[in-house]
Amino acid sequence: MDEKLTNLRSGFFEDLKAVEASEDLAALRDKYLGRKSGLIASEKKRVGSLSPGERAEFGRLVNELSDEVEGAIKELSDRFASSLEAAALEREKIDITLAGTPPRQGHLHPITLVRRRIEDIFVAMGYSVKAGPEIETSFYNFDALNIPRGHPARDSADTFYVSSDLALRSQTSTVQIHTMQQQAPPLRVISPGRVFRRDTPDPTHNPMFFQVEGLAVDRHITLADLKGTLQKFVELMFGKNLKTRFRPSYFPFTEPSAEVDFSCYVCGGAGCRVCKGSGWIELGGSGMVHPNVLRTVGIDPEEYSGFAFGLGIDRMAGRMYDIDDIRLLFENDVRFLEQFA
Ligand code: FA5
Repeated sequence: MDEKLTNLRSGFFEDLKAVEASEDLAALRDKYLGRKSGLIASEKKRVGSLSPGERAEFGRLVNELSDEVEGAIKELSDRFASSLEAAALEREKIDITLAGTPPRQGHLHPITLVRRRIEDIFVAMGYSVKAGPEIETSFYNFDALNIPRGHPARDSADTFYVSSDLALRSQTSTVQIHTMQQQAPPLRVISPGRVFRRDTPDPTHNPMFFQVEGLAVDRHITLADLKGTLQKFVELMFGKNLKTRFRPSYFPFTEPSAEVDFSCYVCGGAGCRVCKGSGWIELGGSGMVHPNVLRTVGIDPEEYSGFAFGLGIDRMAGRMYDIDDIRLLFENDVRFLEQFA
């Protein structure tokens, strides 16, 4: 081989050894194969100045060298590419045998759990479940419930007014009126939902809480039906062998009216922490639908009678889950709520 070509070849392989990264290959390629001033390209240009005898042989040698250099650069370039790929694969390797992080699962709020249980019990007794508006006019909040003008319940110190005639309902009893306006007796309905009162929060009071209203209207409905229904409810909700007691009370929309208690399911009536030593737990208010209420919705109180009750769901949840302070129910502390998952 031409000595110059031989030197060029060994110079190239020396240079090739020094290449450490694929970026350096471009410069090397330029140095030897660059069209304008590449060392091999310059040799090729020399072909024209050679004698015809030397030309063919030199041309062959210089082309061979050019191909060899081209091949060596390509081979190293491929090697760089595959080692980069191997490094990337190693870096991004996923161990599919590792256990995953399970997503956090939501669950029902304790109030929803208790509400659903109440609904199941009454639906099994033949009641339907009805919802009602949370904002009501004075007609539904007070007038139709036989609450006279000047009654303290109408006071803005007790009720959240939205305007002079609109207020957040303070009891689910408003749904009694909607129901009887929409449906003729016989009817049996429960209505669980939110109610709002200007009560100062304490362990047994929230300004927003849940009640479940019950209403049954038919011919010949008596106080005994009310008592039997609530007795059955208490047995299914809290346990067999529990007793209920009715204490005379007053609600403008029922006559007679009664507060209902049931015997403590923890101590059986002996007195304990849950029933605060009394042996009894308060369930809610109840009574026979007042004739004025029936008249307001066009039901003849001579022909029909009915009973109604309103029970506090939050306090029931408090009893069932041994929650000392019902304010916790709406503080949205996940550590508290996830205990009921
Ligand atoms: C009433 O609200 C009547 N509407 C019940 C009624 C319905 C009587 C139908 C007759 C016929 P009362 O104000 O007592 O009654 O409330 C009923 C229940 O709601 C209470 O027993 C209690 O469990 C719950 N409750 C009342 N105020 C609060 C409060 N601030 N926070 C949580 N629960 C409450």
